[in-house]
Amino acid sequence: MPDSIAQQISKLRQQIQKYNYNYYTLDSPSITDAEYDRQIKLLRELEARHPEFASSDSPSQSVGGKVLEAFSKVQHELPMLSLGNVYSASELHDFIERITKRLEHATELDFCVEPKLDGLAISLLYEQGKLVQAATRGDGSVGEDVTHNVKTIQNIPQTLSGSDFPARLEVRGEVVMPIADFIRFNQQAISEGNKGFVNPRNAAAGSLRQLDATITAQRPLAFYSYGIGIVEQGQLADSHYQRLQQLKKWGLPLTNEISLETGAEGCLNAYQKLRQQRANLPYEIDGIVYKVDNIMLQERLGFVARAPRWATAHKFPAQEEQTKLLDVEFQVGRTGAITPVAILEPVFVGGVTVSRASLHNADEIARLNLKIGDTVIIRRAADVIPQIVQALPNSGVSSEIIFPTTCPICSSEIERLENESIARCTGGLYCAAQRKEAIRYFASRKAMNIDGLGVKVVEQLVDAQLINTPADLFNLTAEQLIPLERMGQKKADNLIQAIAHCKQTHFAKFLLALGIREVGEATAKNLAEHFLTLEALQKANKEALQEVDDVGEVVAQHIVTFFRQPHNQTVIQALLAAGIHWPDMPAKTTQAHTLSGKTFVLTGSLTHMSRNEAKQALQALGAKVSSSVSKKTDYVIAGKDAGSKLNKAEALGIEVLNEEAFLNLLNHA
Ligand code: IVH
Repeated sequence: MPDSIAQQISKLRQQIQKYNYNYYTLDSPSITDAEYDRQIKLLRELEARHPEFASSDSPSQSVGGKVLEAFSKVQHELPMLSLGNVYSASELHDFIERITKRLEHATELDFCVEPKLDGLAISLLYEQGKLVQAATRGDGSVGEDVTHNVKTIQNIPQTLSGSDFPARLEVRGEVVMPIADFIRFNQQAISEGNKGFVNPRNAAAGSLRQLDATITAQRPLAFYSYGIGIVEQGQLADSHYQRLQQLKKWGLPLTNEISLETGAEGCLNAYQKLRQQRANLPYEIDGIVYKVDNIMLQERLGFVARAPRWATAHKFPAQEEQTKLLDVEFQVGRTGAITPVAILEPVFVGGVTVSRASLHNADEIARLNLKIGDTVIIRRAADVIPQIVQALPNSGVSSEIIFPTTCPICSSEIERLENESIARCTGGLYCAAQRKEAIRYFASRKAMNIDGLGVKVVEQLVDAQLINTPADLFNLTAEQLIPLERMGQKKADNLIQAIAHCKQTHFAKFLLALGIREVGEATAKNLAEHFLTLEALQKANKEALQEVDDVGEVVAQHIVTFFRQPHNQTVIQALLAAGIHWPDMPAKTTQAHTLSGKTFVLTGSLTHMSRNEAKQALQALGAKVSSSVSKKTDYVIAGKDAGSKLNKAEALGIEVLNEEAFLNLLNHA
């Protein structure tokens, strides 16, 4: 059974009171502004249609939130009010028509037009030009004393400039955290394992309402004036626009986007212009404010319950909306990176319908403490990709997001190294998601050097399903190539020839062409020279791999995992079957090196060179350097503090050289 009107009103009031508390008192909103606006609008409509349920303590009749007990209270001498809203051109026309009639004004009204800054309202009281008090809006009548905090905001003057300012002057405006500073601040907070703020407005409010002013001092806050409260003993202009210019003259900051406009047309032009500027402004705005410019007319119009009749806000489309996280998909990028993607109940935000949003990586999911079924806040600033900024406390059923262990495309293993946030598919040669990239890399100059096989041709060949892996290149015919864009007989023949030609290669180039992670030109060359054959390299374990120059634990892990994937093996076999070959690597024993065929183990620390330098010197002389002592070891070089390897050498009766003997050996080799 549907709720009765009374129940509906009472439920809305309770909910809105809870939202107000979270937003104003805790600086931690529990719904988006857009959702809040819809609910308060609904409440006002219900109350207007059913005046029998009117109540002075309805949240529709009050402004803002309760003050925090911990702050001293400030009674505003003039209440700090709110603004009414219009949401369309026709609502703006109605607004202007209403006030023009009320004033019995014959000509079009002039408006001072200002950006609606998305921050925190603040009142600054100057006495004899000195800043004596700063207060938050609070519930509109009583705010919090934040004088100490406000004094740390760099662009707020502690004393006014000039001399013609009123003896007592209350300046009102908004404290914001500029967007660039917000991004920097949040990145820093997140990298230090802290939570970060959901948006710049929360960041500003959370930073200003600190009991410890030294914390506020470290936050990049800025203030912009938009109005005047108390004025005693002083002359102010009779236009709102001119008054703002007076504030500027006295040293108070204004936004750059303030203008004087005539009638609805002028206002709407300014609205369009500001919407276009929105993405490039240094601060976040959520709309535009139109204010009757003439102060006398303002006074004649006066106020309704909580807002002036002479001003209204025209909101821009919301940049934050809430919706439901339906599922998480895992996408494989062209280099194998696995990206979790949120599947959302479609929601209109920032001017477009959003149904997917990247979650970047597993760390981001953990940071948001996200679960499937959660209600989430989606943020999409103009021209910026949509983001999930928060998961709201959820009453419904939610389930954990499980990260896959195998690739959703090719079912190869997914590898995520310690200290790395990105997980990757290891089936690089085979995986459909990585096809184009793998083939392009295979054909590149440094690798197999197939002339004429550029990005565009690879894309067309893959899209036409003529090739799936690099091995398929060797089955292509000129007839298959000719229909491709900008190809023709001659180019096709040349390409087929280049493909055939590349079969005669070098081991290092072939290794590079496989696209093993972190195996670049130098590493491929070292691997080829060390292992000499593909079979030996494929059999090598992590330890054996680490004996190669430049190969540390991470690269060794990548190599082992790569060769372990059955799909990669299939492609390698197909490449060899297609006829790829290379000249035998010169075996080290055939080199005219004095230490050829000898195996050394280094242990302890040397005083004249690092262990790596010693290793290189030995290898240059044709010796093999191993990390463990076995019967096959010929010499152990024992530096200072040599441990178990020395004991083992002695037990096996292997010749041990001290540093001096080792240097001697090098000098005379
Ligand atoms: S004038 C009596 N001008 O919007 C008029 N307010 O919803 C009171 N705001 O609490 C406000 N930019 O925090 C005014 N250019 C602007 C504004 C602005 C942002 C905020 C302000 C106020 C709220 C009203």
